[in-house]
Amino acid sequence: MALILVVAMAENRAIGKDGGLPWHLPADLKHFKAVTMGRPILMGRKTYDSIGRPLPGRRNIVITRNAGWSADGVEVAQSLDAAIAMAGEGDVMIVGGGQIYAEALPRADRLEITEVALKVDGDAFFPPVDKSVWHEVARDSHPVEDGKPAYAFVTYDRA
Ligand SMILES: NC(=O)c1ccc[n+]([C@@H]2O[C@H](COP(=O)([O-])OP(=O)(O)OC[C@H]3O[C@@H](n4cnc5c(N)ncnc54)[C@H](OP(=O)(O)O)[C@@H]3O)[C@@H](O)[C@H]2O)c1
Repeated sequence: MALILVVAMAENRAIGKDGGLPWHLPADLKHFKAVTMGRPILMGRKTYDSIGRPLPGRRNIVITRNAGWSADGVEVAQSLDAAIAMAGEGDVMIVGGGQIYAEALPRADRLEITEVALKVDGDAFFPPVDKSVWHEVARDSHPVEDGKPAYAFVTYDRA
């Protein structure tokens, strides 16, 4: 089993603002779909609320402390450990948000980071990525185009 964190973050590590994404980057949504399709996705309840529905083609496991919480088409776990156990064998994709990334980063095996060339006024952040622990194994860079910021799809593995 590999624990993989999937995130899009700004240069200042901002990932969210007012319960949503701070940018509109369709290429990243497409990338997210390709990376996660067919695999269980684990997310915090606030991230689920921001999406508002289960994403198709993937088991959606939502982490909440609220024992009474439920939503159609979604599995519910009351801790990150319980969610990982529920996901079972194979790659497990952790898709946010800030609280869940912070808890999951120390035990992650791989990071799939979309580095967005913006500094944004966010209220949710990805934790610092220690480059003595994580090394870059792949980078696919895209320049500014059609009013969209430059971005890069970057894969990090543990050094
Ligand atoms: N840019 C990206 O790639 C990306 C990805 C995902 C999300 N986001 C953004 O990030 C923001 C949301 O992040 P966030 O940090 O505010 O919230 P979050 O991590 O999505 O969810 C937090 C919630 O998860 C539950 N939770 C957290 N830790 C838990 C634990 N140890 N045990 C049980 N439940 C736990 C709690 O739910 P209850 O309150 O129900 O108990 C908590 O309120 C949004 O703006 C979203 O758009 C961005």
